[in-house]
Amino acid sequence: NPRLCVCVVGSGGVGKSSMTIRFLEDRFPEYYDPTVEEKYVTEISHSGKVFDIEIIDTAGQEEFFKYRDSSLAEGDAYLALYSINSLSSWLELKELRKKIEQEKEHPDEIPMVVCGNKKDLDEYREVPVDEVIEYCSKIGSPFMETSAKTGLCVRDSFHAVMEQVKLL
Ligand code: GTP
Ligand code: MG
Repeated sequence: NPRLCVCVVGSGGVGKSSMTIRFLEDRFPEYYDPTVEEKYVTEISHSGKVFDIEIIDTAGQEEFFKYRDSSLAEGDAYLALYSINSLSSWLELKELRKKIEQEKEHPDEIPMVVCGNKKDLDEYREVPVDEVIEYCSKIGSPFMETSAKTGLCVRDSFHAVMEQVKLL
């Protein structure tokens, strides 16, 4: 099978591990256990083909950035998360994107999907959706709002990543 490395990135606590676990095991751990780095291998069927996917669930906490930074370049594609109730997580996503661009030969062709996670916390929204839509159209990335808690758009977001790769 064709092999593909999907890197899940975003600042601390935005739900990278929760999205990954929801996608792989369809469950939601409520507790917060900051990640150093986790790697998973799974198969994804997408548009009639089976792919071997390595998912790298990266660290969001600063103390583990040395692990994260050594994995940032490895992704063939990126699921980039912020949390809709955290403005700082949105600002950090844009910085992370710049870091990834620096690692790439073709920075304008990075397969990436941007997710505003924790959609179930809509009443605490801090990130204006217009701004995200504008940014995403500039970088050519699909944008969706997700919830690892309810499962909203979790599968869609991983498949959207697959779709981005196909376009290359
Ligand atoms: P780091 O590994 O430290 O970078 O964090 P992370 O991005 O992996 O976040 P994690 O998945 O560990 O989730 C952090 C906290 O947010 C946990 O308590 C989760 O239960 C919670 N959380 C994650 N996704 C959601 C969501 O969609 N909705 C709500 N309400 N909580 C969520
Ligand atoms: Mg984590």
